[in-house]
Amino acid sequence: MSRTVIVEALKRSDFGSDVNIKGWVRTRRGNKNVSFIAINDGSTVHNIQVVVDIEKFGDEFLKPITTGACLSVKGKLVESLGQGQSVEIHAEAIEIYGSADPETYPLQKKGHTLEFLREIAHLRPRTNTFGAIFRIRHHMAMAIHTFFHEKGFFYFHTPIITGSDCEGAGQMFQVTTLNLYDLKKDDAGAIDYNNDFFGKQSSLTVSGQLEGELAAMALGSIYTFGPTFRAENSNTPRHLSEFWMIEPEVAFNEIEENMQLAQDFIQYCIRWALDKCKDDLEFLCSMYDKELIERLNSVVGDDFIRLSYTEGVEILETAIAKGQKFEFPVGWGTDLQSEHERYLVEQHFKKPVILTDYPKEIKSFYMKQNDDGKTVRAMDVLFPKIGEIIGGSQREEDFTKLQNRAEEMGVPTKDIWWYLDTRRFGTAPHSGFGLGFERLLLFVTGMSNIRDVIPFPRTPNNSEF
Ligand code: 4AD
Ligand code: MG
Repeated sequence: MSRTVIVEALKRSDFGSDVNIKGWVRTRRGNKNVSFIAINDGSTVHNIQVVVDIEKFGDEFLKPITTGACLSVKGKLVESLGQGQSVEIHAEAIEIYGSADPETYPLQKKGHTLEFLREIAHLRPRTNTFGAIFRIRHHMAMAIHTFFHEKGFFYFHTPIITGSDCEGAGQMFQVTTLNLYDLKKDDAGAIDYNNDFFGKQSSLTVSGQLEGELAAMALGSIYTFGPTFRAENSNTPRHLSEFWMIEPEVAFNEIEENMQLAQDFIQYCIRWALDKCKDDLEFLCSMYDKELIERLNSVVGDDFIRLSYTEGVEILETAIAKGQKFEFPVGWGTDLQSEHERYLVEQHFKKPVILTDYPKEIKSFYMKQNDDGKTVRAMDVLFPKIGEIIGGSQREEDFTKLQNRAEEMGVPTKDIWWYLDTRRFGTAPHSGFGLGFERLLLFVTGMSNIRDVIPFPRTPNNSEF
């Protein structure tokens, strides 16, 4: 008899048929005659109940069936009379694959804190919460690929190891095979990378954008979806040292089309979650965030607000004048903090906001310069509870302006000669953006710490598992 996954077993109504399910015991309760075992196999947040006649199997045999044990159960599918479940299985044969000692198995019945579960990241996928989150994570990845594929974008793979710093922010993890216990330096005290593995200083990428732009200038519309790395020492609930980013890049798109793409893209993903992850969303809604589903519905219907950074700062300054308190100062030229972004979204507009035309000093060298000489054609999408969820821009397509800006900002142009070449040969207007996958997941799951939406979070002082 082949195995039936629990999500399918729960939908069946051919009562009386034989069925085989396999999974991990969530709870076992009962009396001296009958035992009820709730089993979960990860295919759904719902358990299936197995009813066991104790006399048939014997107490000794059933003893190791405790929370966490793994079983294969064969039996008859029966309509359930119990509340909240449609079918159950009356056990005819049970195989115990593995027991889980109640003295040492950390996931006992009682509710655990998310902090504790982070310490046992190897076992937390077995909880309802993390089962739901990781199923949603999968569905969001499928939504992303489907969205772009249906729009005719090509999935383009950009390198993880790179010799250039896309964001020019110097937050890169170095990749080396040099012997750190015996580093050779030249007379000036500089490390000689000629002898390193790649023959030059190399790092883990902070973004696939630069290579993505090369692809867009050949294939038209592309997207990347891969891991990115940032050695920024920010221990916040919204930053990871290793996170996944989706970066579409489109030839001939200007900033307005880029904004529309960003809005269509996020709304598509959230609609996908509402359609395909109903049970898991309802579970997370009931356990963690009563407004979750309402909030998801609230962003899929309407257009996002579009306004300039300058207008955004004016709104914040007016709010401060009226008594609004922020931890960090605001003024034209300062980078907005998440508290400011969230004020605009949650208090002022009560809608997602796309802020554009930021001061050039606080944005990357590759952004298209506006005629005012002060701002660039940047766009950040700001979301409730999250702040910045997307960062992007129209790109500077003019060779000289781009080269000058890179030099002004201290980005070594010798490392990006190939990127500059796109502006020398057949340049064209183009735009793109990056969506932080885990920021999207924070929004969709209602979790409040980014460490809880990626299986094995990498953060300062943490690379366990
Ligand atoms: O705004 P960022 O730095 O933009 C770029 O990397 C551009 N190259 C994107 C592009 O135009 N192709 O990062 C983009 C997004 C942010 O809006 C945020 O959602 C996410 O990536 N992000 C992070 N997510 C988790 N942890 C971090 N440390 C993150 N840094 C950025
Ligand atoms: Mg950004």
